[in-house]
Amino acid sequence: MRVLVTGAAGFIGSNIVKYLESKSIDTVLFDNFSHSNYYNILDANGEVICGDVTDKNFYQSIPEVDAVIHEAAITDTTLADDAKMVEVNYNGFLNVFNFCIKKNIPLVYASSAGVYGKADKKMSEQEKTIPHNTYAYSKYLCDCWSRKYVKVNKTPPIIGLRYFNVYGPQEVHKNKSASMIYQLYKQMSRGKRPRIFKFGEQKRDFIYVKDVARITAEAINSKKSVISNVGTGRSRSFNDIIAILNKLLKKEYKPDYIDNPYQKVYQDYTEADTTILNQFLGTKAEYSLEDGVRDYLENYLCYDQ
Ligand SMILES: NC(=O)c1ccc[n+]([C@@H]2O[C@H](COP(=O)([O-])OP(=O)(O)OC[C@H]3O[C@@H](n4cnc5c(N)ncnc54)[C@H](O)[C@@H]3O)[C@@H](O)[C@H]2O)c1
Repeated sequence: MRVLVTGAAGFIGSNIVKYLESKSIDTVLFDNFSHSNYYNILDANGEVICGDVTDKNFYQSIPEVDAVIHEAAITDTTLADDAKMVEVNYNGFLNVFNFCIKKNIPLVYASSAGVYGKADKKMSEQEKTIPHNTYAYSKYLCDCWSRKYVKVNKTPPIIGLRYFNVYGPQEVHKNKSASMIYQLYKQMSRGKRPRIFKFGEQKRDFIYVKDVARITAEAINSKKSVISNVGTGRSRSFNDIIAILNKLLKKEYKPDYIDNPYQKVYQDYTEADTTILNQFLGTKAEYSLEDGVRDYLENYLCYDQ
């Protein structure tokens, strides 16, 4: 079996490639290297193709593959260029989507919990979504398109995965868009008090990238189309992260609380309803926040001083 991974040199894409290759699945790595780190794929065995998913003829460079995992996107949610965001994230998605339809091969693509906007209860796939920024809107468009298309056409399985807050190795190139776990670790490991928005009780469903990579890779075996959340189902506060990091680093830093300038559009709370993930895709996250952060620190971040 050979799987095309777009966005393969990015954070999640490169972890997916690693997971697939560990299961002896051949890979083709596609990326335009606009927001990536080639170090992430130094050990990969698959063919590397430098190309752009917005190029309508991108498929001409692709060898025969049996499935596609589409991760390529602009992931900096603060990018002010709306046209570019929608072009890459939605038009790029449509190109990949049409490629899979034409070849009759399964597509697993990265959507986002961002589509839900602000919420005060668990986020469920059946509920109305109100994206609060153009990034989230671009993912919303992908979900709307695939839902409508599979309803009226016979298609190969199309699996949309709404990732929640992913953290873990190979995210360093994301800078300010990297996870809260990485940002807080960076401050605390350099002797600084961790800075968070007042008063640290914002809650997110943090999921370790090793779970995300496994769940995404396994989703290519789904027989039916679906849109599923990918989260742990348990939301944790920023104060919790600081407590976990303090324990692992043997420190006692008190948070430095600052005002949140993005309050209007800020997701104070994300938590995945995991019913579809558990029952339809038959899987779940295995790492608790404590286990994931420990693995991340002990096996990866300790080398990033
Ligand atoms: N990291 C998270 O917490 C999170 C949460 C929800 C959804 N997602 C989604 O998961 C996917 C992967 O995100 P990530 O965190 O690994 O981000 P990332 O920025 O590390 O990876 C994106 C990759 O896509 C590539 N890329 C960008 N534009 C391209 C184009 N036009 N053609 C080809 N390649 C292009 C970049 O070079 C990069 O390697 C994205 O679709 C993102 O929207 C991520």
